[in-house]
Amino acid sequence: MDDAGALRAELADHLLGDGVLHESRWLKAFRAVPRHEFLPHFYRLVPSGDWERVTSGDPGWLELVYADDARVTQFDGDDTVTGGTPTSSSSMPTIMAIMLEALEVHTGQTVLEVGTGTGYNAALLCHALGSDRVTTIDVDPDVSQRARERLHDNGFFPACVNGDGALGHPERAPYDRVLATCSVSTIPPAWLEQTRPGGLVVTTLHRPIGAGLVRITSNGDGTGEGLVLVEDGRFMPLRAHARPPAVAGEGEFERGRTTLPLATVIDPASPFEFFAGTALPGVVAGRDWLAHQDGSWVHHHGSHVDQGGPRRLWDVAEQAVERWRELGEPRRQDFGVRVGPDGQFLTLGDLHWHL
Ligand SMILES: C[S@@+](CC[C@H](N)C(=O)[O-])C[C@H]1O[C@@H](n2cnc3c(N)ncnc32)[C@H](O)[C@@H]1O
Repeated sequence: MDDAGALRAELADHLLGDGVLHESRWLKAFRAVPRHEFLPHFYRLVPSGDWERVTSGDPGWLELVYADDARVTQFDGDDTVTGGTPTSSSSMPTIMAIMLEALEVHTGQTVLEVGTGTGYNAALLCHALGSDRVTTIDVDPDVSQRARERLHDNGFFPACVNGDGALGHPERAPYDRVLATCSVSTIPPAWLEQTRPGGLVVTTLHRPIGAGLVRITSNGDGTGEGLVLVEDGRFMPLRAHARPPAVAGEGEFERGRTTLPLATVIDPASPFEFFAGTALPGVVAGRDWLAHQDGSWVHHHGSHVDQGGPRRLWDVAEQAVERWRELGEPRRQDFGVRVGPDGQFLTLGDLHWHL
């Protein structure tokens, strides 16, 4: 076995050992598909906070390719810049494996992947299902073109489409499965419309607090119901679903005491965080602050908080913890998702919140 083959086997064993891979079709795909062919160069964040370009042939390139990490390949939708906001990448293999397994796909079924990126995930899908079963779409023409070439060079021939994945790809619909490898604030209607009745849409929700991985069963008429899955999932957003930045402001504020740690509200590992997202929609978080585009903000100083702007966001967070305790401390996997004619909602028993 060559070096790449050995590293690939190690990565697959790691995914198996961590319990994220169960199905043999995906284990075989991770063992077989050469990730390095899709990542001849990428960027990685170094401790100084800068992005470092790593190219095939650089020392450590192959080891980095087969590490269980996301690898950024483009910033700001521009192939010529070497820093900024990541807009294309090869996702972390663990989350790829979780999402592929969440698809619960069967031999003979068809899949639409939204977000071709490097083409690596599309190659895994082709390996498992056959190229003729796979359609993949990316909004960026250069990204799309490169992925198509790399897929072809490696013997994979899915329908590789350049276009806005929010519109799906009606030409090859209906699909049995839709898999989004970019996150969305709301479910694009075309995805459920183009999924067969009983088929599944698997995507991540783009929410600054309370993001998550969801699987929705299509009713075949553009509506569907599903669940938030126990595994967390955070992806770069579908381009049109990116949020403008909000930052904690200056100016007048009220100071108050608190016993609620900021991490309880914003750390994805906190059991409260998903519920917090329902109480604080659109609120973004930094290391010691929260902010909303309406100008509301919080600075958290440990035992006290400063709150400014039109709304007292920390008061909202503290009330939400109380409510969460009264409800029995529901976790992310206790929530449902409903896409109906009346709108899109997260649900918890009789309660619901607009996406
Ligand atoms: C995390 S990457 C996908 C990773 C990819 N599946 C892989 O294996 O390398 C997200 C991709 O979503 C694409 N994207 C963003 N908005 C999109 C849209 N509206 N339609 C289709 N693709 C989109 C980006 O161009 C980017 O390549």
